[in-house]
Amino acid sequence: MSTFLGIDIGTSGTKTLAIDEAGTILAEASAEYPLYHPKPMWSEQDPEDWWQATIKTVKSVVRKAKLKPQDVKAIGLSGQMHGSVFLDKKDQVVRKALLWNDQRTAAECEEIEQRAGGRKKLIKMVANPALTGFTAPKILWLRNREPKNFAKTTKILLPKDFVRQRLTGEFATEVSDASGMLLLDVAKRNWSKPLLSKLDLDPQLFATCYESEQVTGKLLPAVAKQLGLSTDCVVVGGAGDCAANGVGTGVVKKGVLSTSIGTSGVMFVHSDKVEIDPEGRLHTFCHAVHGKWHMMGVNLTAGGSLQWFRERLCAELGKKAYDILNQEAQAVAPGAEGLFFLPYLAGERTPHADPDARGSLVGLTLKHTRGHIARAIMEGVTYSMRDSLEIIQEMGVPVRQIRVSGGGSKSALWRQLQADVFGQKVVTINAEQGPAFGVALLAAVGAGAYKNVEEACAATIQVATETPVDRRARRNYDRCFPIYQQLYRSLKQDFKSIAAIS
Ligand code: XUL
Repeated sequence: MSTFLGIDIGTSGTKTLAIDEAGTILAEASAEYPLYHPKPMWSEQDPEDWWQATIKTVKSVVRKAKLKPQDVKAIGLSGQMHGSVFLDKKDQVVRKALLWNDQRTAAECEEIEQRAGGRKKLIKMVANPALTGFTAPKILWLRNREPKNFAKTTKILLPKDFVRQRLTGEFATEVSDASGMLLLDVAKRNWSKPLLSKLDLDPQLFATCYESEQVTGKLLPAVAKQLGLSTDCVVVGGAGDCAANGVGTGVVKKGVLSTSIGTSGVMFVHSDKVEIDPEGRLHTFCHAVHGKWHMMGVNLTAGGSLQWFRERLCAELGKKAYDILNQEAQAVAPGAEGLFFLPYLAGERTPHADPDARGSLVGLTLKHTRGHIARAIMEGVTYSMRDSLEIIQEMGVPVRQIRVSGGGSKSALWRQLQADVFGQKVVTINAEQGPAFGVALLAAVGAGAYKNVEEACAATIQVATETPVDRRARRNYDRCFPIYQQLYRSLKQDFKSIAAIS
């Protein structure tokens, strides 16, 4: 039996699954790890935790699906994008990794633009402006603020590529995740030598860049033994979690858009050519589909906002917290009776790119309850995703079908909210495991089970359910959305003053 593993190194935990050639999921496992916030708006994780979670979940999947070493032909890796793993000459981790939702690098973003000769020239070289979440500013931060750690660093890897190095001994990455480092010539799908030289970064620091379905190495003998796998098992490029979710939800051709509500919120569209938002609000990255690209808008605390509310303010609700919050939010009318939430708990990425923005509840009255707050949080996150959708539409990109995915979209209420706020029917698909499933498909392609990614998706992914628009709710949201948008403009300067004192 030919089997393929998909491993997704997420922010809340690592998920691993095994599929057969027909795309049927044979077993799944997950393991969580902590997130560290040493200062407000800083966000770090220990790469060793990712590695331990990988070992644990792979072993668990192998056991649950009763796989023999020779069964597993290939592994695909997915992971949270942009994180910076700094390794020394003995391949040991130099310090905790700075993550995609870390906001400490505003000064380094300015430095990058300056060294590049301005924002326009930077966008010309790497298709995107400098944003605090991206990897290049994190590297410059290490050089500027922790020079001793920078001097020790001989390799810089993305989260999933660190796991790859442990699995195979190879320093390799692939185009979709590498795009988010802000060091890749996205059009040419390889490192931007001109930018590396302007930033005075040695090309040797970076891994070899592959296409997503290409084989990057084989399991090391000791690792294969530990995991119960064979040294014939290959590891393919895989993808950053957004492009992996694109593959896992079948967004591999024009006209289909996927939304994902995980810790972050992502609006993701396929593109046959390199299309760039001249204002730099959307990211333009390589897709995990060979020779194709994608655009996306990202909210930094989507499911993360509701998770924060549950953990910090509703801890007494215990394990059923999400069900209770969903029920209470469902009982509240669309618009949460005038309560608005700005989902900027970790600053803001699309469309404002503002590291100083803060989460806000505006419009509270004595009438409002916990259910109102839960609903306002879900609505605020969905408005922020509509911000991205409107830019995508403004660029003339067709959106014929919206596929919703991620933990948040398992809630029927949040699916309905998406249909009503976007003003367009949304659908779910049969495969619910987004990124891990997407890279398991890439592994199947790399091992030759399918001709290409498009064929793998067509064979395994179908629409499962449809949620039509509720017209009354939609009219309500059309009235609320401009108020939501105005609130950021009104509070922008206040956010700066707050950031200055905290
Ligand atoms: C994408 C992004 C996030 C992370 C989260 O640009 O920053 O979606 O990849 O996993």
